[in-house]
Amino acid sequence: MTVRRVAVVGTGVIGASWAAHFLAHGLDVVATDPSPGAEERLRADVAAHWPTLTPVAGASPERLTFTADAAEAAARADFVQENGPEREDVKHAVYRVLDEAARPEVVLASSSSGMLPSVIARGCPRHPERVVIGHPFNPPHLIPLVEVVPGEKTAESAVEAALAFYTAVGKKPIRLRQELPGHVANRLQAALWQEAYSLVDRGVATVADIDTAIAHGPGLRWACSGRS
Ligand SMILES: NC(=O)c1ccc[n+]([C@@H]2O[C@H](COP(=O)([O-])OP(=O)(O)OC[C@H]3O[C@@H](n4cnc5c(N)ncnc54)[C@H](O)[C@@H]3O)[C@@H](O)[C@H]2O)c1
Repeated sequence: MTVRRVAVVGTGVIGASWAAHFLAHGLDVVATDPSPGAEERLRADVAAHWPTLTPVAGASPERLTFTADAAEAAARADFVQENGPEREDVKHAVYRVLDEAARPEVVLASSSSGMLPSVIARGCPRHPERVVIGHPFNPPHLIPLVEVVPGEKTAESAVEAALAFYTAVGKKPIRLRQELPGHVANRLQAALWQEAYSLVDRGVATVADIDTAIAHGPGLRWACSGRS
């Protein structure tokens, strides 16, 4: 399925960044968030992100529409990117609405950093097979990585659709073979943090020297070593 319109559900830090990214890639975005003033904040965030982007021909922030009704947003979308609060009860309430409203073939991708897709999919009694994690690295409009994680009921077709969609909008998706807390990139980051805390704690180096070691050593090399 060709994705022309994306529903961005929850328009806080991550949702606003995703919205800017999708708009810059020439998609229509229908955003939803129940918080008072959410539309104004989202439009301001998109305007603030826009100068950092390289919009494709035809892309425009004016292709953003907003509704407070999540069902309406999901019903109009070809792909759903959910960015609501990191609470199981809230995710399940949101997913019940999305599952009811979205066409059955529409992928429901969660940005969740910490929740497992199998847990999130419990909010989807109708079509749990279209639920995946589509975890960005903050901020998604600047950092290419997306971790696509299937749950126990996720269909292969949903994983492939998510990977194809993210690739088409300029992201670098990876596919996890197992769901686990923290996915992959945050676990790698946490391992480095743990060693940094340990080195400071043992008096081996100061915080400033650890920072210099990363920023002017492996951090710099890693930033230049991406193969594609
Ligand atoms: N902040 C990060 O660095 C980061 C990075 C990657 C992924 N994530 C994930 O992205 C998701 C959102 O995180 P965030 O940092 O943007 O949080 P945030 O608090 O900035 O935004 C959450 C938004 O959800 C809205 N919301 C509340 N109830 C809702 C509902 N019922 N339906 C829809 N929206 C609702 C809130 O009004 C708010 O605008 C979380 O699942 C988090 O794990 C966060």
